[in-house]
Amino acid sequence: MEAPHSPAAESATSADHTSAAHLAVDSAEDMRDLGRRLAGLLRPGDLVMLTGELGAGKTTLTRGLGEGLGVRGAVTSPTFVIARVHPSLTGGPALVHVDAYRLGGGLDEMEDLDLDVSLPESVVVVEWGDGKVEDLSDDRLHVVIHRVIGDAGEPGAAGDGEFGESGEDAAADRRRVTLTGYGSRWAGVALPAG
Ligand SMILES: Nc1ncnc2c1ncn2[C@@H]1O[C@H](COP(=O)(O)OP(=O)(O)O)[C@@H](O)[C@H]1O
Ligand SMILES: [Mg+2]
Repeated sequence: MEAPHSPAAESATSADHTSAAHLAVDSAEDMRDLGRRLAGLLRPGDLVMLTGELGAGKTTLTRGLGEGLGVRGAVTSPTFVIARVHPSLTGGPALVHVDAYRLGGGLDEMEDLDLDVSLPESVVVVEWGDGKVEDLSDDRLHVVIHRVIGDAGEPGAAGDGEFGESGEDAAADRRRVTLTGYGSRWAGVALPAG
């Protein structure tokens, strides 16, 4: 299963400018905390893609990002809007929180939304962006959130989970998070691990 011309990469990276990290996140509070930690890595112009089923914790993570960035307004699920702008309270980048589920095309469409903000000067966080925003930027941080438990047979999650413990509440809160930084922006950036 090795790539034919794979350089002697020791870490679990598959392309030159890709870095990845896997984390266990055991509670909503920890997810929020992860958001705060990630915020410390973010700069104006960054794109963060969040993938995970409904209730996975995408908005919870974004709440932590907003706290870490020091932006105005509570981060809530953007269910009834395509995008919400949270201006910085600290002179940093604004947080633009996008629900790509409602975005027919790609982020190009956002130009038409007339958001009163400059995207290159903001941190753009997109929920459900798969297949829509990859082309926008070679540089992006992709966060994939999986529930650890759940009904058997989650597609593509073979080998995950099944801790077999009692204590359903705690188990139901468990998530596995994979962080992947694509592009030169993220090359060599130490992503939070553990
Ligand atoms: N480990 C966890 N990470 C994130 N959310 C969790 C976790 N455990 C429980 N939750 C709860 O799951 C729900 C996630 O909702 P939300 O963040 O809106 O998900 P999404 O935006 O992916 O649909 C929240 O009610 C949150 O409190
Ligand atoms: Mg959400």
